[in-house]
Amino acid sequence: MNAPAYHLPGVKNTADVVAPTPARALNTGGASDDTGARTVAEVLAGSQVTSILDELDRELVGLLPVKTRMRDIAALLVIDRLRRNLGLTSNAPSLHMSFTGNPGTGKTTVAMRMAQILHNLGYVRSGHLVAVTRDDLVGQYIGHTAPKTKEVLKKAMGGVLFIDEAYYLYRPENERDYGQEAIEILLQVMENQRDDLVVILAGYKDRMDTFFQSNPGMNSRIAHHIEFPDYAPAELSHIAEKMLAEQHYSMDSGANAAFQKYIQLRMQQPHFANARSIRNALERARLRQASRLFSQPDKVLSAADLSTLCAEDILASRVFQNPQASA
Ligand SMILES: Nc1ncnc2c1ncn2[C@@H]1O[C@H](COP(=O)(O)OP(=O)(O)OP(=O)(O)O)[C@@H](O)[C@H]1O
Ligand SMILES: [Mg+2]
Repeated sequence: MNAPAYHLPGVKNTADVVAPTPARALNTGGASDDTGARTVAEVLAGSQVTSILDELDRELVGLLPVKTRMRDIAALLVIDRLRRNLGLTSNAPSLHMSFTGNPGTGKTTVAMRMAQILHNLGYVRSGHLVAVTRDDLVGQYIGHTAPKTKEVLKKAMGGVLFIDEAYYLYRPENERDYGQEAIEILLQVMENQRDDLVVILAGYKDRMDTFFQSNPGMNSRIAHHIEFPDYAPAELSHIAEKMLAEQHYSMDSGANAAFQKYIQLRMQQPHFANARSIRNALERARLRQASRLFSQPDKVLSAADLSTLCAEDILASRVFQNPQASA
């Protein structure tokens, strides 16, 4: 999904979001128990967590390590709930995460699922996700950063704050960079309001590692580091098939063969962005298919004509003309 932010109405109206709030009972918004569940099944009942995880399995190709970590985290939360019901624990667990991987590897998509799971198990009041980058948090002038960051936190409160390319918040080369101010506010809220807000930092693995080395306070607040691997060519092909099927399109055998070649070439070119590049390539192929059909105004078009991509729709890509240029 490409939309930058997902807001739900009804976020908490906090006067000062950085003020520490006393720890309070979880389970304010989720579907799980106030009933003192004692079994895993009781906690899961009605929470839809199993179906969210199954859907994630079906919807996303590959990503086995990520899916496994998601299940592990869900299990941890369910057990935490049971422990809480028996009075074995009272502190809110730290659930802040980092999602590292190259562009288009599914980080935003998985974060949205994670927000749903956290909500359904009662760890955040609402399942909304607010996606931001440095520019949403950091101001240009002195005094602008704190209000900007707090405004974003207010919107995200009760849900998940997803900070894409989080390392841009830290610019050591610029002594008076306002990013540091945003980081400090985030650190406070991540500690003091962790029962009401989960922060996910996303970006390239190597840059995130450097960021954590320079910001140990941030590193120590991240409970789960999840790595998103690049997709193999066969996975990209499978992703393409799924994306097309969702929109009632398919490739004929010629298009399919051309697309395998396309994937190989595209992967070696600059700005390759995994599944995102596949989505973009398919959009362009659909444009070409439309132009092809448009140029035969008198032809009666069958459902098959309207939903089939042919080899020429793929082969007209610039990737084939000039393999060094980007798609
Ligand atoms: N494993 C997958 N199976 C099917 N579709 C996928 C998969 N991974 C990503 N996609 C699709 O690819 C697109 C890009 O994914 P997403 O935005 O989640 O990636 P990202 O890692 O957040 O990328 P970016 O770093 O560019 O923001 C989305 O349309 C998503 O639905
Ligand atoms: Mg993203």
